[in-house]
Amino acid sequence: MARTLVILKGDGIGPEVVDAALKVLDWAAQKGGYAVERQEALIGGAAIDRTGDPFPSETRALVDRADTVFLGAVGGPQWDRHPKNPESGLLALRARMGLWANLRPFEVFEGMESFSPLARPHLRGMIIRELLGGLYFGQPRGRSVVNGEPEAMETSRYARHEIERVVRLGFQVAQRQGVPLVSVDKANVLETSKLWRQTVEEVRQDFPDVPVIHRYVDAAAMEFVKKPELYQVVVTENLFGDILSDLAGGLVGSLGLLGSATVNGLQGSRGLYEPVHGSAPDIQGQGIANPIGAILSVALMMEWSWGDREPAQWIRQAIRDTLKEGYRTPDLGGHDTTESFTGRVLQQMEQIHRKEAMSS
Ligand code: NAD
Ligand code: IPM
Ligand code: MN
Repeated sequence: MARTLVILKGDGIGPEVVDAALKVLDWAAQKGGYAVERQEALIGGAAIDRTGDPFPSETRALVDRADTVFLGAVGGPQWDRHPKNPESGLLALRARMGLWANLRPFEVFEGMESFSPLARPHLRGMIIRELLGGLYFGQPRGRSVVNGEPEAMETSRYARHEIERVVRLGFQVAQRQGVPLVSVDKANVLETSKLWRQTVEEVRQDFPDVPVIHRYVDAAAMEFVKKPELYQVVVTENLFGDILSDLAGGLVGSLGLLGSATVNGLQGSRGLYEPVHGSAPDIQGQGIANPIGAILSVALMMEWSWGDREPAQWIRQAIRDTLKEGYRTPDLGGHDTTESFTGRVLQQMEQIHRKEAMSS
């Protein structure tokens, strides 16, 4: 059966890393003997330029019919003053798909230790970021003028069920891995966080075997740096998850190393897949963007949307092997281009595949 995929390349390095990731997908599809029906649509600044809207109705219509969506990145300084910025297109896409759990795994690959003073060998974890609530979407929000002075405001809001579903997923992932769940909030100050912590305490009754660690977000930022091995499965609200996942990027050596999956539970095939990084205007058009985050997002897509665990493992192994050999894009101190690095990953996948075929 053909699998369908909507591709939204977006802006800056978005198209560069998506093209690299699609080569990996094509390879895996060919080996798996299935077709992937791909449709492309506009989002972000590219969509503003063509239609005036960062999430145009044609894109919305395609997404509504799609089970899986793959996104590059949006944004760039040229649209900063546009009344509807590219980033609002991404938020509209996320809201439209209704997927609330953004999984952002991180891993210190062998040889990366020197790219971050914090990287420890074999360190791995996952940030589970609530994606549809909090300050990003709460109403009211906006601008006004009060006593002749401009004012701006947004609202942080969470309903209990919105917290419960993502926390429950956090417990399930932690349980599966046999590790504690770290819940990050600001319950000493924020009402939404008090409800968050209370909900975690209630849901934990259903997971007596999973230890729970509560941390305030400021302390978590400190401890994530000092004791990252504690942060194996983290569940947190939208804004805190955004910030802590870039911290994880720093921890593993580059923001270009992180992929993500947005899903609505352990089961179910709908998903939005995107690297964690942005459009990196400082390096766009040079062909040197690190494609690993996008490629790992393909692996996540195969696993979470399509249930293909084996090719996802090949992809991860090929990335590990390629880095171990010393192939690196400039963000990791190397001289590879996006294309040459991806080419080597494909060769590694071929080798891994051949070995597997011989041993089975
Ligand atoms: P960024 O992630 O684009 O870049 C931060 C730094 O990391 C830059 O120095 C960049 O060169 C580097 N970097 C990021 N990805 C890389 C990669 N794959 N390979 C090599 N280096 C990489 O964040 P920013 O500079 O704060 O934001 C730039 C634009 O991207 C903004 O418009 C922002 O809103 C947008 N943004 C979009 C997304 C998204 O689409 N999901 C995420 C974050 C930021
Ligand atoms: C991310 C980005 C987005 C976010 C922006 C571009 C809307 O930073 O995906 O991490 O804040 O969620
Ligand atoms: Mn971010």
